[in-house]
Amino acid sequence: MIGFENVGYAYPGGSPVLDGITFEVSDGEKVGLVGANGAGKSTLLKCVPGLLEASGIITVSGLRVSRENIAEIRRKVGFVLQDPDNQMFMPKVIDDMIFGPVNYGSTREEAEEQADSVLRGLGIPHLRDRYNHRISGGEKRMAAIATVLAMRPDVMLMDEPSSSLDPRNRRALINTLSGLDKTMIIASHDLDMILDLCPRVILLDHGTLIADGETAGILRDRELLESHGLELPLSLSGQKGI
Ligand SMILES: Nc1ncnc2c1ncn2[C@@H]1O[C@H](COP(=O)(O)OP(=O)(O)OP(=O)(O)O)[C@@H](O)[C@H]1O
Ligand SMILES: [Mg+2]
Repeated sequence: MIGFENVGYAYPGGSPVLDGITFEVSDGEKVGLVGANGAGKSTLLKCVPGLLEASGIITVSGLRVSRENIAEIRRKVGFVLQDPDNQMFMPKVIDDMIFGPVNYGSTREEAEEQADSVLRGLGIPHLRDRYNHRISGGEKRMAAIATVLAMRPDVMLMDEPSSSLDPRNRRALINTLSGLDKTMIIASHDLDMILDLCPRVILLDHGTLIADGETAGILRDRELLESHGLELPLSLSGQKGI
């Protein structure tokens, strides 16, 4: 479904921040992407919809990420950015939520119905008619996630979706995502959420892939995590690391 083959990236004038990244994510699989600050998680996610132009080969549903395919790939891929301020650009939450669907051919009524159902699912119907510049950071993150969900993308890439969420919103997010049968890559420092949601996790450090496997094993491996700048998830920290 999503393939990365020998993917590399260097920001203009800089040294490589991704190097030789190779893995595949199957249809419907939920994969966590973890690593210390600066490991390359956001950079890797941005290469999928072509926001950054990587070396190597990235494919989505067999389509190679390239200039010719980019419109079709962006239609399939929903992206929750690390900074929701870069995502919400209409006056009100509802305007952002219907913008994409209407652009892709839904009627306003259909788009609003879908938006309302997403807002209810996330427990945030009260944000529907709020102004984006007058809501809190956590509310804006929930709204940004709702906007991407309302597009019903085949694939969801999420960069720190739970950061700045209170426990209730975080739980609503986890419940919503766990009920979705979609391919997802979730970059996060919230290792407890990754443990809850993603059977598989990928660990990056300094732009290279360090580990790729079962979340329950990798996130229990204290030595592996600590040697790459991470700690055991809270829910496992009472147990003895392997
Ligand atoms: N616009 C940029 N220009 C130059 N270097 C950048 C830029 N954005 C990120 N970098 C560098 O690329 C590397 C990877 O950054 P990236 O944002 O992908 O890390 P990350 O794993 O998402 O970190 P975090 O956990 O802090 O979000 C870092 O060394 C960072 O300093
Ligand atoms: Mg990041």
